[in-house]
Amino acid sequence: MARPSTRFVCQSCGAVSGRWAGRCNACGEWNTISEEIPENSGIAGGPAGKQAGGMAISLESLDAETGDIPRHTTGIAEFDRVTGGGLVPGSAILVGGEPGIGKSTLLLQVAAVLSEQGHRCLYFSGEEATAQVRLRAKRLGVERAPVGLGAETSVSNILTTLENGEKPALIIIDSIQTLWSDSLEAAPGTVSQVRTCSQHLVRYAKRSGAALLIVGHVTKDGQIAGPKVVEHMVDTVLYFEGDSGHQFRILRAVKNRFGATDEIGVFEMKNNGLAEVANPSEMFLGDRNDHSPGSAVFAGIEGTRPVLVEIQALVAASSLATPRRAVVGCDSNRLAMIIAVLSARCGLRFGAHDVYLNVAGGLKITEPAADLAIASALISALSGITLPTGRVYFGEVSLSGAIRNVGHTASRLKEARKLGFTSAAIPVPVDGEAPDKQIFVENLPHLGALTASILGSEEVKNRDSIEKDAKNS
Ligand code: TYD
Ligand code: MG
Repeated sequence: MARPSTRFVCQSCGAVSGRWAGRCNACGEWNTISEEIPENSGIAGGPAGKQAGGMAISLESLDAETGDIPRHTTGIAEFDRVTGGGLVPGSAILVGGEPGIGKSTLLLQVAAVLSEQGHRCLYFSGEEATAQVRLRAKRLGVERAPVGLGAETSVSNILTTLENGEKPALIIIDSIQTLWSDSLEAAPGTVSQVRTCSQHLVRYAKRSGAALLIVGHVTKDGQIAGPKVVEHMVDTVLYFEGDSGHQFRILRAVKNRFGATDEIGVFEMKNNGLAEVANPSEMFLGDRNDHSPGSAVFAGIEGTRPVLVEIQALVAASSLATPRRAVVGCDSNRLAMIIAVLSARCGLRFGAHDVYLNVAGGLKITEPAADLAIASALISALSGITLPTGRVYFGEVSLSGAIRNVGHTASRLKEARKLGFTSAAIPVPVDGEAPDKQIFVENLPHLGALTASILGSEEVKNRDSIEKDAKNS
């Protein structure tokens, strides 16, 4: 047998090369390449075919009956929604998130609920001692749930434990970065350890029909460490996000072989664990002050669910040569574009002003439909005119200043109406018909119409004074 040759693996992107280098050719990162001895178990690209004693498998047709996918529903509605209706037996789910966001808490709650239902749930903690997990269970009030708890980091010990005794329905690994396989020489947390350990566990899950939940840490730039290699292997990737300054957390599906992606579940971190938030709009709008300029309500869609959020803008005279543009909760390029369109197409000048934009509550908005709400908040903040109370905004702004249609108009308006909003500023619908008769709809074809609508008769006066302000400062 050939001597196992060493190889060099980039710890950032997983690229394999035959020689060490200071900089990875594939991803351009420095000092990420380390030497590894490949595993000889043959999982990762071992010899195939006859030499390895392979045997022929029977092939199936596409139209064979499969029936509905069975699922373990947890009863935690927000979690079930994100997973697409519950955990699928034999599937693997990666839950990523920053440290301290609440991954262990969430998964312990899920394990507790399922074990109470009579499923065998095992929780392997590689980060915390069993006493710590027990303390958390007490805090959550689930210490009586029959969850099997183990503090273990060796993947072969975990697999042996799994093979012994009754087959589990749910396996939780907290976290994949702490596991190590003794068939590799690399340190725990390196790409090859993460990949090998995940492969072993996913294979076990597929074979035994247990649902596997893997916790993965996120590096400071937001990627799951040892990243793409695990994402490819699992069926579902969930991100748990939120910031420590806010109580609520968002569980977001970014890949799901058994359900919709972009679905979110909203939780609130309380003293006794994560509580579901059934109506996120109410919470995001909770302590809104709609009597101050610069605040606009955006009717957005997160997954299949409409969510209303407040967009706040502050425009202040700047003393800097290059005024500040600071954004929290959405893309800064988007803000730059909208400011440029407002100044080029509507004559509004932001050149001598610092502009701050904030999505209240800590939600991150990726939809272009937020453009119109952002533009409204900016115009309102610049002019000092409060936007009409009880109005929502959505629509995409193009570079020409035209306001373009976005999807889900009806459900956005319905959600707004449900929360007591009485009017909406939206694009001109394609079919020319008002989608909701019970809410006053103002159709805006162009940002110019929006500016005129907000500034009204004060437009000219204000623009003059704004420009004067800008000159003076
Ligand atoms: P944890 O689940 O340990 O986060 P992760 O596994 O993602 O690192 O959650 C830790 C944080 O949550 C910690 O700062 C304390 C807080 N917390 C609560 O506020 N309430 C609770 O009931 C629990 C268990 C934790
Ligand atoms: Mg944890």
